[in-house]
Amino acid sequence: MNNQTSILNVNLAERSYPIYIGTDLLGDSAVYRPHIHGQQVLIVSNTTVAPLYLETVQAALREFRVESVILPDGEQYKTLAVWQGIIDALLENRFDRRCTVIGLGGGVVGDMAGFAAACYQRGVYFIQVPTTLLAQVDSSVGGKTGVNHPLGKNMIGAFYQPQCVIADIQTLATLDKRQLSAGLAEVIKYGLIGDPEFFVWLEQNMDSLMARDQALLSYAIERSCSDKAGVVAADEREAGNRALLNLGHTFGHAIETGMGYGEWLHGEAVGAGICMAADFSRRLGWLTASDQARITALIARAGLPTHPPESIDADRFMQLMSVDKKVLAQKIRLVLMNQLGSSVVTDDFDSELLKVTLNGYGPE
Ligand SMILES: NC(=O)c1ccc[n+]([C@@H]2O[C@H](COP(=O)([O-])OP(=O)(O)OC[C@H]3O[C@@H](n4cnc5c(N)ncnc54)[C@H](O)[C@@H]3O)[C@@H](O)[C@H]2O)c1
Ligand SMILES: [Zn+2]
Repeated sequence: MNNQTSILNVNLAERSYPIYIGTDLLGDSAVYRPHIHGQQVLIVSNTTVAPLYLETVQAALREFRVESVILPDGEQYKTLAVWQGIIDALLENRFDRRCTVIGLGGGVVGDMAGFAAACYQRGVYFIQVPTTLLAQVDSSVGGKTGVNHPLGKNMIGAFYQPQCVIADIQTLATLDKRQLSAGLAEVIKYGLIGDPEFFVWLEQNMDSLMARDQALLSYAIERSCSDKAGVVAADEREAGNRALLNLGHTFGHAIETGMGYGEWLHGEAVGAGICMAADFSRRLGWLTASDQARITALIARAGLPTHPPESIDADRFMQLMSVDKKVLAQKIRLVLMNQLGSSVVTDDFDSELLKVTLNGYGPE
């Protein structure tokens, strides 16, 4: 760990844990050591990330008994069947309750490894080593783990906090451009749900972030993690305000499910979903047209889609959205913006008006 490593804390009483953000962390045994308790470590990765980074992590963990399991790559493999392969590996290696599962990869690997750690012998130690921007700013923090069901995204899972999160920003160098953009959707989300200053900072720095300026990326990751950690610490199990983190997600999940997992990236669907939330918020009179334009422009500058796919019409959207977890007692709940940098969860809106937004922004 060098002196440029930032350490943020997620405050959850006895489940509190640090997030390390910096460079040269992946191969640094001193970062892992305090968080590994037994001798047995299972690294879960995938066919894309393992050839790039598995050896570095294995080398850092030489003092332990390290096994690995390599999953196929893609959202379409975030299934119970693939997940069971992790449990199989733990059992085949006779790992006990003091073992540690490490998720090395993007959000798909992290969600599946975390859910395996939550379930294996009713819970073993877990470490997140996120390697995509999206995973570093979002999925690795906050303890949501799980897999998809054919009828809905993330429908099977558990809240399960890791021992620590190790975000090495150098891993972002190998990420393709589309994935970088996908991560930026979640970064922009934090500005819109409660951090207007950060939104303005993003407007000023988006081009440099797209060019992968390391110092600026590091700042954006820290600020995003700190915003998310604040929300999670106040509402770990989403009884209230944690739902704000789903801005753009009710629309986005419908796009992901409707198009088939893996067609649209999660972050791309969230980008379009945020623009849809902005459009609907403006139609309700909550957001000004100029603020909507600023939001849509920033999403576009981040290389993300601003409209839903034409193949999903309003009726199909309604059908897809009613499976979403945010639906309580048959009413669709949405996260909407009541001003730039502030959002609310509501089920009190005119569904006919919503259809205009769902049809890809029709007439005014
Ligand atoms: N648990 C949560 O709170 C939470 C929050 C947001 C998203 N998610 C979930 O996260 C998933 C999306 O995560 P994601 O965007 O990281 O997708 P991903 O895990 O599919 O990773 C994207 C792609 O990048 C590759 N990759 C990963 N790291 C790389 C690297 N350093 N260099 C080159 N390629 C690399 C992956 O193999 C994959 O092909 C979704 O399943 C979503 O539901 C969970
Ligand atoms: Zn998301």
